[in-house]
Amino acid sequence: TSKILELFDSDFISDPHPTLAKLREESPAHLVATPNGLKTWLVTRYEDAKALLTDPRVSKDMRVGYGLVPQNFADPEKQAHFQAQRGTRKQFATELSTTMLDSDPPDHTRLRKLVAKAFTMRQVEALRPRITELVTELLDAIEDRDEVDLMDALSFPVPFTVICWLLGVPPEDRDKFRRWSNLLTSGQGSEEALDASQDMVGYLRALIADKRENPADDMLTALIEATDEGEKLDEIELISMAFLLLVAGHETTVNLLNTGTLALLTNPDQRALLAADAGLWDSAIDEFLRIDAPLANATWRFTLEPIRLGDVLIPKGEFITISLSAAGRDPKRYTDPDRVDITRKNSGHLAFGHGIHHCIGAPLARLEGRIVLGELFRRFPRLSLATPKDELSWRPSFNLRGLASLPVRLR
Ligand code: HEM
Repeated sequence: TSKILELFDSDFISDPHPTLAKLREESPAHLVATPNGLKTWLVTRYEDAKALLTDPRVSKDMRVGYGLVPQNFADPEKQAHFQAQRGTRKQFATELSTTMLDSDPPDHTRLRKLVAKAFTMRQVEALRPRITELVTELLDAIEDRDEVDLMDALSFPVPFTVICWLLGVPPEDRDKFRRWSNLLTSGQGSEEALDASQDMVGYLRALIADKRENPADDMLTALIEATDEGEKLDEIELISMAFLLLVAGHETTVNLLNTGTLALLTNPDQRALLAADAGLWDSAIDEFLRIDAPLANATWRFTLEPIRLGDVLIPKGEFITISLSAAGRDPKRYTDPDRVDITRKNSGHLAFGHGIHHCIGAPLARLEGRIVLGELFRRFPRLSLATPKDELSWRPSFNLRGLASLPVRLR
């Protein structure tokens, strides 16, 4: 078990599932090296994944994690690389990673409470007319086209615009924000990603200063007010919160919209079911999340104590990565796991996580999925792929699973 697997190559990027299936079959956990040189235990079985997401013996706190994780790569070159990354990450950690996602209670509880109100089912449901209008406008804009990249036309603009509305980010900053966000999530640990993180911090600082001058009816202003009252949030937490919401608010949902569309374009039987019964959309969205979890291998934890999974003993002080991607296709949990079946009952998928860090944006992501996919297939009943499925390009990321683009024919 001390062998460190290097899974990340072009085959893994285009389809990680065969590799993950093999690992899941072999053993409950494998030591793997991530593309940026971190060593982590990849957990692939559904039951283990679910249990670990609520296990008090693991922590999310970066500060705890980096203090604990030993540096024991056998290869000195890798060790040096890891060391360098560790430095990078540490710097990254303070200004952009002081978030609820990177903390344990009581910090987690305090930070989450500050924004939880904004994401209740009722609050989110109130956005329905506005989101529908946005989607209608975007679809009107491509109505006369024969072919279009859905990523640019729809899947990116919708979640990104919505999270910008909520936080109060000016829409004209969209392009530079998208560039940084892409660099940060795909090019982890690279020089460019580090630059992007600095640019992002600078941008958020300026935006916050501007909101202080010109308070508005948005979430960022509300968070600034909580900061200025002291205690509730400090400046670094504020920047980190804005960053987390902006990035988490679109990176994942974009992938759901694209992979959901792809699932329907390649499974005509399922598409026909939806055309006949719009009541199936909610379970369809859950099925798309199960079949390709957007946060594929991104739920990180650190062991505070040794943890036994079957015959594997994970020592104290190591990284664990819970593969939501692999858990979603565990044959012990799902019959015929590689098949898209939008009528599946009690899916219980873990794509939004589980326990105290369960995705705060889940109601919003579901609503966006429902509106975007529903309207797209209603308006363009002849929609089809413009590139064969196996030639589509996927984003080169270990953490995320998502298409780089989605060229379609509209008629
Ligand atoms: C947490 C997935 C959309 C904000 C999480 C977690 C997952 C997840 C798996 C837990 C991570 C962990 O335990 O390590 C997704 C997916 C989405 C989505 C698949 C879309 C399909 C959104 C949206 C927002 C958002 C739209 C914001 C508007 C957050 C936040 C957390 C989180 C703030 C941290 C919660 C905490 O630590 O308590 N998400 N998410 N997510 N998500 Fe999402």
